[in-house]
Formats: sequence, structure tokens, C-alpha cells
Amino acid sequence: MNLLDLTEAGSDGFLTLKPGRLPALTNTPHPFPYQGSKRALAHAVLRFLPSDTATLVEPFAGSAAISIASRYARMASQVVMNDVNEPLMAMWQRIIDDPAGLADEYEAMWNQSLEDPKAFFLTKRAEFNETFDPAILLYLLNRIVKGAVRYGKNGAFNQSADNRRLGAKPATVRDRLARTSKVMQGTTVRSGSYESLLTQANQADVVYMDPPYQGVTNVADHRYMAGLVRGDFERVLREANANGVSYMVSYDVIRPDNKYGEALSADLELTHLHLLAGRSAQSTLSGGTDVTVESLYLSPALVQRLGGTKSLIA
Ligand SMILES: C[S@@+](CC[C@H](N)C(=O)[O-])C[C@H]1O[C@@H](n2cnc3c(N)ncnc32)[C@H](O)[C@@H]1O
Repeated sequence: MNLLDLTEAGSDGFLTLKPGRLPALTNTPHPFPYQGSKRALAHAVLRFLPSDTATLVEPFAGSAAISIASRYARMASQVVMNDVNEPLMAMWQRIIDDPAGLADEYEAMWNQSLEDPKAFFLTKRAEFNETFDPAILLYLLNRIVKGAVRYGKNGAFNQSADNRRLGAKPATVRDRLARTSKVMQGTTVRSGSYESLLTQANQADVVYMDPPYQGVTNVADHRYMAGLVRGDFERVLREANANGVSYMVSYDVIRPDNKYGEALSADLELTHLHLLAGRSAQSTLSGGTDVTVESLYLSPALVQRLGGTKSLIA
């Protein structure tokens, strides 16, 4: 894809780019609300997929915005998506295989909820923690505050409902699932930790990673990213570099208050881009209306495939 419409927007020691919107992504489907969805960033990320990309691998998939976008825009022939959250990936498998059946179950729950939405949510949340039923997870994701999945120390889903809303209307969800399923046919869905998917990727693949944000947890100690220890993550990235893997990482986010997490270690020799993106879920969460600046790191192998750093800008 032509990178020339990336605009250099300023110099602060980073390459700051303002990618325009890709027409190929107009009306991209999105299946369910999910905190940290990278829908807005897809317009930038897809520009860094080499034209010979065989498989796009998304090890921290969540709502898999980049996988969906790359299938929708026909930028990757194969997609492998993975997340450590097993019920989430079971739900994904059903979205792909049986969107109508899943939409029926959502509709039944949504209708039952109308009598007492608050109590219904709590009953379903308790039931999910017993059964891990994918259809219940879909209902919970549509009801919780800002699509922000939270699990307690005992592993139970403990996020509260947004009681000002009933969750998306059944017809809307049916349409979202049907459209997503159509785009994602043939996708490989896995659940597990990210490491081997990254380090064992083939040379013709591209791995896009969006690990949990440092900012979300409000943890003062920035070595930890909601369960991922920075040093461990960097060690896995080093192994991926040694194996010549082409990868991208969304990592620290620059927020309206100008605070952002520590950058990834310089010895990884990643190309660190600052992208002026639209309003992200993160900005929405912090109540901001500002344009968000997102960090994107490109691995040495990927930059080489794209023709070197100079070819990233006009
Ligand atoms: C910021 S979210 C990704 C959001 C995604 N980019 C989207 O568009 O929706 C991070 C995801 O990483 C997952 N995760 C956390 N630790 C993981 C690990 N060790 N391996 C794989 N996935 C992990 C979480 O369950 C969560 O869904």
C-alpha cells in the first residue's frame, strides 16, 4: 500500500505521522464493544502491512479490530487471532460459525432483561461465572461500563453494568455479528498466551500486538502492564527479533495530560512512530476529547520489508 499520504506532523525526537483515513475501511464491521479497541488505529496500522503479507497474526486480539480491518480491506489472505481470555475466544468462534444462533440468544436475553435490567444483569453475570457461556459474555459486553472487561482476584467477571443503557438493540447486534462473521470466515481462532505465536511466526507473516495498556490499571509501577511484566515482554520481543519476525506493537499512549508509559527498550531497535489518531476508547475513558497520539513500534524485519525507515514518510 502506498505510504505517501502519511504526513510528517512535527519533530519531537519521534517520527510523528498523521495518517489519513483509508477509504477501504469505510463501514468496517465491529462485533461488540471492547475497551481498547483499535478501530481508529486500523487506518494507520494497515499501511504497514507489506503487500506480500501471508498471515496477519493478532495475539492480543480482544475485539480484533486490526484482524477485521485487514480481512475487510483484503490486506491479508489469512488471519490468526488469539487472546488469553478463553471464553472471549469461544465467543469469537461462535460469531464466525453461528452468528444467527448467537444473535437469537442475545435477543432472548435482551427481551427478558426489560422487566428488571439491573437484576437481570447480576443474574447473568453470576451465571457466566459458572458456565462461561459465550452468549452470556456477549450480553455482558454489551451491558458493562465502556466495554471494559474486569476480572476479580478469584478470576470472576466482576465489572458492573452501565445501568443507563440496556445494551445494543437485538437488531443492531444481529447485523454486527452477521457482517463480522462474513468478513472473518476462514479465520483461525486460538486461546493461550501470546509468546509462541510471536516468536514462531513465519517470515511472510506480520504480527500485530496490542498488549494491555499500562495506563488503564493506574498502577504506579510501570514495569507491569495488567499482568504482563515489561521485562518479560521485552525478552520475547528480543527473541522475535532474532527470528526475523515482522511485528508491530501498540504500546504506550500519550494522553491529554501528557503522561505516558515508558517507551520500549532502545536495544530492541524498533522504529517508534507517534500517530495522530482519532479519539480512542482510551481518550473516551479518561473523559478527553483531544486527538490521541498513539505509539506504534515496528520491528527491524518489518521496516526492512517496507523498504527502510525513509520509505515510511513521503
Ligand atoms: C488492549 S486489549 C486488545 C484490544 C484489541 N486491540 C481490540 O481491537 O479490541 C488487550 C488484550 O490482551 C489480552 N491479554 C492479556 N494478557 C495476554 C497474554 N499474556 N496473552 C494473550 N493475550 C493477553 C487481554 O485479554 C485483552 O483482550
